[in-house]
Amino acid sequence: MKSADFELYQNMLYKESGLVITPEKSYLLDSRLSPIAKRWNLDGGIVALTEALRKPAPDPKMIKDVVEAMTTNETSFFRDLRPFQIFETVVLPYLVKTKPAGSTIRVWCAAASSGQEPYSLAMTIKENQHKLNGMKFDILATDISTEILDIAKRAKYSQFEVQRGMPITLLMKYFVQEGETWSLKDDIKTMIRFEQLNLLRPFTMPGVFDIVFCRNVLIYFDQQTKTDILNRINGKIAKDGFLFLGGAETVLGLTDRFKPLEGQRGLYVPSESPYKA
Ligand SMILES: C[S@@+](CC[C@H](N)C(=O)[O-])C[C@H]1O[C@@H](n2cnc3c(N)ncnc32)[C@H](O)[C@@H]1O
Repeated sequence: MKSADFELYQNMLYKESGLVITPEKSYLLDSRLSPIAKRWNLDGGIVALTEALRKPAPDPKMIKDVVEAMTTNETSFFRDLRPFQIFETVVLPYLVKTKPAGSTIRVWCAAASSGQEPYSLAMTIKENQHKLNGMKFDILATDISTEILDIAKRAKYSQFEVQRGMPITLLMKYFVQEGETWSLKDDIKTMIRFEQLNLLRPFTMPGVFDIVFCRNVLIYFDQQTKTDILNRINGKIAKDGFLFLGGAETVLGLTDRFKPLEGQRGLYVPSESPYKA
């Protein structure tokens, strides 16, 4: 790809989604954008797609297709396991201790991909329901990609997908097998509300959240974007709330509005949090 064309995509992806791509990753443009050119019936492949995007007012749907094709949707049930154990053994007991019986707890899963992360949380909550003092959970799951959210809402997973991380007991309890496909049952499915949301744009949801999962998405952004997103998440999280980041992510060196919790890898609280381990 010519360097001027690479720059066109580099600037577009940065502006639209925050994704930073370096020249060594330009091969990804070739492999992921060919299907987009085909979808738009452009016989000239990526060259024709680039031409169409260079026009003074390119079709926003074409830009959206390019952005969605370039995002990485890698995920799995109970990914990294430890955050879900911390959620179960640290966060849920703290909520039981500090919130009145019957409270509604608000959870935001900010880069939900194909749904495995919010559904893992929902199953963890369901499994602990009897200990939760009548607490109700309002779980919002968002992602920039409407295509991946459609997959999440369908909640049908392949054998390969459920084999990655799903304990067999939970698989048997919460899924129905239909041939090669495992369909999540409605009692878990209906616990999640899916909505499109770009982390670069204002967070317009009302109120604040008690728990935010924003895992394995900040890694794709530059320092300035990470800081901006973390500071805006801080404005959307309760003072006694919890933030989960991915294993390769941190707040350190980016913002002082959150602090890590010692011994609880990946878990952060607002700097003024009253939480004591
Ligand atoms: C690697 S997946 C992580 C999924 C899940 N959180 C996990 O840890 O398994 C990253 C997700 O972030 C989404 N994403 C990328 N840029 C985004 C943005 N600017 N706003 C919201 N979501 C974004 C992608 O569409 C993708 O589904």
